[in-house]
Amino acid sequence: MKRILNIRCGYYCIICSIVLLAACSKKGDAVVNAPNFAIEGVTDTNVTYTNYIHNVLKNSCSSCHGKTGSAPQYWYNTNTYENAVQYGTRIMETIVENSMPPAPRKPFSDADKNLFRAWIKRGSPE
Ligand code: HEC
Repeated sequence: MKRILNIRCGYYCIICSIVLLAACSKKGDAVVNAPNFAIEGVTDTNVTYTNYIHNVLKNSCSSCHGKTGSAPQYWYNTNTYENAVQYGTRIMETIVENSMPPAPRKPFSDADKNLFRAWIKRGSPE
Protein backbone atom coordinates (compact mmCIF):
# COMPACT_ATOMS: atom_id res chain seq x y z
CA MET A 1 0.00 0.00 0.00
CA LYS A 2 2.74 2.41 0.98
CA ARG A 3 4.59 1.66 -2.23
CA ILE A 4 1.57 2.40 -4.37
CA LEU A 5 1.15 5.69 -2.58
CA ASN A 6 4.78 6.59 -3.27
CA ILE A 7 4.42 5.80 -6.96
CA ARG A 8 1.27 7.91 -7.15
CA CYS A 9 3.04 10.74 -5.41
CA GLY A 10 5.83 10.52 -7.95
CA TYR A 11 3.40 10.76 -10.82
CA TYR A 12 1.75 13.82 -9.31
CA CYS A 13 5.13 15.49 -8.91
CA ILE A 14 6.00 14.86 -12.54
CA ILE A 15 2.62 16.09 -13.77
CA CYS A 16 2.85 19.19 -11.60
CA SER A 17 6.32 20.01 -12.92
CA ILE A 18 5.18 19.65 -16.51
CA VAL A 19 2.18 21.89 -15.93
CA LEU A 20 4.36 24.48 -14.19
CA LEU A 21 6.98 24.39 -16.93
CA ALA A 22 4.34 24.77 -19.61
CA ALA A 23 2.75 27.70 -17.79
CA CYS A 24 6.11 29.46 -17.39
CA SER A 25 7.32 29.01 -20.94
CA LYS A 26 3.98 30.19 -22.30
CA LYS A 27 4.21 33.39 -20.31
CA GLY A 28 7.73 33.94 -21.59
CA ASP A 29 6.71 33.45 -25.21
CA ALA A 30 3.92 35.99 -24.97
CA VAL A 31 6.42 38.68 -24.05
CA VAL A 32 9.24 37.68 -26.37
CA ASN A 33 7.24 36.72 -29.43
CA ALA A 34 4.42 39.26 -29.40
CA PRO A 35 3.41 39.60 -33.04
CA ASN A 36 4.76 42.81 -34.48
CA PHE A 37 2.94 44.14 -37.55
CA ALA A 38 4.33 47.64 -37.30
CA ILE A 39 5.75 48.65 -40.66
CA GLU A 40 8.93 50.64 -41.10
CA GLY A 41 8.09 54.27 -41.75
CA VAL A 42 4.60 54.00 -40.24
CA THR A 43 4.61 55.98 -37.00
CA ASP A 44 2.11 57.45 -34.56
CA THR A 45 2.15 60.68 -36.57
CA ASN A 46 1.34 59.20 -40.00
CA VAL A 47 -0.57 55.97 -39.33
CA THR A 48 -3.70 55.57 -41.49
CA TYR A 49 -6.27 52.91 -42.28
CA THR A 50 -4.63 52.31 -45.65
CA ASN A 51 -1.00 52.07 -44.58
CA TYR A 52 -1.50 49.86 -41.55
CA ILE A 53 -4.93 49.23 -39.92
CA HIS A 54 -6.55 47.53 -42.91
CA ASN A 55 -3.99 44.72 -43.15
CA VAL A 56 -3.88 44.03 -39.44
CA LEU A 57 -7.65 43.72 -39.10
CA LYS A 58 -7.85 41.61 -42.23
CA ASN A 59 -5.06 39.23 -41.26
CA SER A 60 -5.50 38.94 -37.51
CA CYS A 61 -9.22 39.36 -36.87
CA SER A 62 -11.17 38.22 -39.92
CA SER A 63 -10.72 34.51 -39.30
CA CYS A 64 -13.23 34.93 -36.46
CA HIS A 65 -14.83 38.31 -37.22
CA GLY A 66 -15.27 37.67 -40.93
CA LYS A 67 -18.11 36.27 -42.99
CA THR A 68 -17.80 32.68 -41.77
CA GLY A 69 -16.16 33.51 -38.43
CA SER A 70 -17.04 32.01 -35.07
CA ALA A 71 -17.28 35.25 -33.08
CA PRO A 72 -20.75 36.44 -32.07
CA GLN A 73 -21.16 39.36 -34.41
CA TYR A 74 -20.67 42.45 -32.29
CA TRP A 75 -18.27 43.44 -35.03
CA TYR A 76 -18.34 41.93 -38.46
CA ASN A 77 -15.21 42.95 -40.37
CA THR A 78 -16.11 43.99 -43.91
CA ASN A 79 -12.55 45.18 -44.62
CA THR A 80 -13.78 48.68 -45.38
CA TYR A 81 -12.67 52.01 -43.98
CA GLU A 82 -16.21 52.92 -42.85
CA ASN A 83 -16.51 49.69 -40.90
CA ALA A 84 -13.17 50.19 -39.12
CA VAL A 85 -14.14 53.75 -38.17
CA GLN A 86 -17.55 52.68 -36.84
CA TYR A 87 -16.08 50.05 -34.50
CA GLY A 88 -12.61 51.60 -34.17
CA THR A 89 -12.59 52.62 -30.54
CA ARG A 90 -13.67 49.24 -29.19
CA ILE A 91 -11.34 47.44 -31.59
CA MET A 92 -8.43 49.53 -30.32
CA GLU A 93 -9.43 48.98 -26.68
CA THR A 94 -9.64 45.20 -26.97
CA ILE A 95 -6.17 45.13 -28.55
CA VAL A 96 -4.63 47.46 -25.98
CA GLU A 97 -6.15 45.56 -23.04
CA ASN A 98 -4.96 42.20 -24.52
CA SER A 99 -8.45 40.71 -24.76
CA MET A 100 -8.22 40.44 -28.58
CA PRO A 101 -6.98 38.43 -30.36
CA PRO A 102 -8.06 35.96 -27.65
CA ALA A 103 -5.72 33.47 -25.92
CA PRO A 104 -3.96 31.25 -26.82
CA ARG A 105 -3.10 33.77 -29.53
CA LYS A 106 -0.47 36.20 -28.35
CA PRO A 107 -1.32 39.81 -27.57
CA PHE A 108 0.02 42.44 -29.98
CA SER A 109 3.38 44.15 -29.48
CA ASP A 110 3.61 47.54 -27.77
CA ALA A 111 4.50 49.10 -31.14
CA ASP A 112 1.23 47.81 -32.62
CA LYS A 113 -0.81 48.95 -29.62
CA ASN A 114 0.70 52.43 -29.97
CA LEU A 115 -0.22 52.58 -33.65
CA PHE A 116 -3.84 51.63 -32.93
CA ARG A 117 -4.01 54.21 -30.12
CA ALA A 118 -2.49 56.88 -32.35
CA TRP A 119 -4.88 56.11 -35.21
CA ILE A 120 -7.91 56.68 -32.97
CA LYS A 121 -6.35 59.75 -31.36
CA ARG A 122 -5.67 61.31 -34.77
CA GLY A 123 -9.34 60.91 -35.73
CA SER A 124 -9.03 57.61 -37.66
CA PRO A 125 -7.59 58.97 -40.93
CA GLU A 126 -8.18 57.00 -44.09
C1 HEC B 1 -10.01 33.13 -32.42
C2 HEC B 1 -11.17 33.94 -32.79
C3 HEC B 1 -11.04 35.44 -32.64
C4 HEC B 1 -10.08 36.27 -33.18
C5 HEC B 1 -8.88 35.90 -34.03
C6 HEC B 1 -10.47 37.62 -32.81
N1 HEC B 1 -11.61 37.61 -32.05
FE1 HEC B 1 -12.62 39.23 -31.33
N2 HEC B 1 -14.02 38.01 -30.46
C7 HEC B 1 -14.02 36.64 -30.54
C8 HEC B 1 -15.14 36.13 -29.76
C9 HEC B 1 -15.48 34.64 -29.57
C10 HEC B 1 -15.81 37.26 -29.24
C11 HEC B 1 -17.06 37.28 -28.34
C12 HEC B 1 -16.73 36.88 -26.96
C13 HEC B 1 -16.20 37.98 -26.15
O1 HEC B 1 -16.79 39.07 -26.13
O2 HEC B 1 -15.18 37.76 -25.46
C14 HEC B 1 -15.09 38.41 -29.71
C15 HEC B 1 -15.46 39.72 -29.42
C16 HEC B 1 -14.81 40.85 -29.90
C17 HEC B 1 -15.26 42.22 -29.69
C18 HEC B 1 -16.52 42.63 -28.96
C19 HEC B 1 -16.42 42.35 -27.51
C20 HEC B 1 -15.86 43.47 -26.68
O3 HEC B 1 -15.12 43.16 -25.72
O4 HEC B 1 -16.14 44.64 -26.95
C21 HEC B 1 -14.35 43.03 -30.31
C22 HEC B 1 -14.37 44.56 -30.38
C23 HEC B 1 -13.34 42.18 -30.89
N3 HEC B 1 -13.65 40.86 -30.64
C24 HEC B 1 -12.24 42.63 -31.60
C25 HEC B 1 -11.29 41.81 -32.20
C26 HEC B 1 -10.11 42.30 -32.90
C27 HEC B 1 -9.77 43.77 -33.10
C28 HEC B 1 -9.42 41.22 -33.34
C29 HEC B 1 -8.12 41.20 -34.12
C30 HEC B 1 -7.00 41.84 -33.49
C31 HEC B 1 -10.14 40.03 -32.90
N4 HEC B 1 -11.26 40.44 -32.20
C32 HEC B 1 -9.75 38.73 -33.16
C33 HEC B 1 -13.14 35.83 -31.24
C34 HEC B 1 -12.01 36.30 -31.93
